[in-house]
Amino acid sequence: MAHIFSLAAPPPPAYHEGNHSGDQVKFPDTGFFQGFNKPSRLEADIFECETSGTIPKDINGTFYRVQPDHQFPPLFEEDIHFNGDGSVSAFKFENGHVDFKQRFVHTDRFKAERSARKALLGKYRNPYTDNEMVKGIIRTASNTNIIFWRGVLLATKEDGPPFAMDPTTLETIGRYDFDGQVLAPTFTAHPKFDPDTGEMVCFGYEAGGNGHDASCDIVVYTIDEDGKKTEECWYKAPFCGMIHDCALTKNYLILPLTPIKVNEERLKKGGNKFAWDPNEDQWYGIVPRRNGKPEDIVWLRADNGTYPQNLISKFSLTHAGFHGHVAGSYEDSNGHIVCDLTVASDNVFFFFPPDTPTPTPSTLLQRNKLVSDTYRWVFDPKTPTHTRVQPARTYGINGEFSRIDDRVLTKKYNHFWQCNIDASKPYNFAKCGPPAGGLFNVIGHYEWDTGRKDTWWAGPTCTFQEPIFVPREGSTVEGEGYLMALLNHLDVLRNDILIFDAQNLAQGPLAAVHLPVKLRLGLHGNFIEKREVDEWKERRREGGEVGPAVPAREALPWQKRMAERGEFKGEEGKLNQMTGKEVAKAANGVNGH
Ligand SMILES: [Fe+2]
Repeated sequence: MAHIFSLAAPPPPAYHEGNHSGDQVKFPDTGFFQGFNKPSRLEADIFECETSGTIPKDINGTFYRVQPDHQFPPLFEEDIHFNGDGSVSAFKFENGHVDFKQRFVHTDRFKAERSARKALLGKYRNPYTDNEMVKGIIRTASNTNIIFWRGVLLATKEDGPPFAMDPTTLETIGRYDFDGQVLAPTFTAHPKFDPDTGEMVCFGYEAGGNGHDASCDIVVYTIDEDGKKTEECWYKAPFCGMIHDCALTKNYLILPLTPIKVNEERLKKGGNKFAWDPNEDQWYGIVPRRNGKPEDIVWLRADNGTYPQNLISKFSLTHAGFHGHVAGSYEDSNGHIVCDLTVASDNVFFFFPPDTPTPTPSTLLQRNKLVSDTYRWVFDPKTPTHTRVQPARTYGINGEFSRIDDRVLTKKYNHFWQCNIDASKPYNFAKCGPPAGGLFNVIGHYEWDTGRKDTWWAGPTCTFQEPIFVPREGSTVEGEGYLMALLNHLDVLRNDILIFDAQNLAQGPLAAVHLPVKLRLGLHGNFIEKREVDEWKERRREGGEVGPAVPAREALPWQKRMAERGEFKGEEGKLNQMTGKEVAKAANGVNGH
């Protein structure tokens, strides 16, 4: 009997000279799309997940996380994971039971491509590589973070505005502009929430034009707990580079500017969004949270460089340069800013190499040898701009995806957790292949005050995704609670969630939730208590105190400007998302969304 795949007439290859050809749904045969990285594309509900151990009954709420997950094979064979459509998972914990739900974020790009039954948008953050049919579309895939804000989920990615979703059904409400108050083309995936005031502090970089034109403009907003924008100030960056995460203190916002740069000419030629610049400093922008003026920004600079591995591995105060994620941040008794984040020793985004040949990682294997220690910077906000700074301390660990107990954000804190890389532990390469997303084979809990390291190794076939901290019910003490993280079974292509006592990881998980399927490598997530979701559901109901969340009513300013210039060439009537004439209509005040 013939093998099912022994087709009589094999179809032509899905990719020809790097470009998708034909209508066949076939993903590239590259590392970003095969093995554990194969798209999941699953929208599903599982009622009563299988579990091991005892799920603590005082965990009542939902763990939301988002993953890039290509809806369709990409236009270009060398596409990257970060270009996948946002897909949100919700693990609802209630009285020891766990239900699972997963849905795509119905962004404008998702809807356009679904309507066409194929990819229309091209390279990661490069509109010059798109099908003409989608010219002027909001390109964001909303695949980086999923946050809870005043009763809605906001799916975010730093290249575009957020999209709102219903926290119970995961249905997409639409593009969210905070009731017309936030109109920048870009919006960070890492807004910060002040636990004392209830404010959201957020920003956009490359924000001056359409979000894809290498502008050096940065906008910083504050939205108060009632949803009103109270602060908006525009600043200039020294170059258009990535500002992925930020750090918040009582009086300041700190913006780490990573030396990976945007160049509009490169984009126009169909090139990469970013290029690593090993000769550029790493920068830290400090802005006041209240009454900021454009001239108030202070830029502090630190070395960036490629150092020999033997130097870096000693975890000395090396001159690393690629910013990872922020753990905590606060102002000390001197009024200085303490800002803790991971900084890697070279270009983590090996798929965005320098414009000119440089000895810097060009493969996943080389990238996996980088060291990403946790740095403590102490900045004096009164320091003159362009002053060179050195880190105050490094922790001596190698990891990423730091998280803290979010109740102490902006305050002096002690505990943080992160995914770690321990290359001294065995790894079953024969069964697993290269570790998808990085060899995060250890989960770690660390205390600044004591230097304590509390870690747990997941074994030779498993890696972790970003952990989240869940406070223990009724406790108000920092770090008392649970740590949850997705576990990747790289050998059998499946996921679990492990639940730990947050301050005793070494004893192993208290419980596990077993999924019968593989998800995709996610980026970020958050745990929202049931009480909070329920309270907002009541306020957000029809006729409730606040009423339902309203999606954006008008096109963004850059879309209106395009329409005014008559730059749309969209094929009328083919797509059901806002494009071409629809944008033009919206620009004239007609609701086309
Ligand atoms: Fe991030």
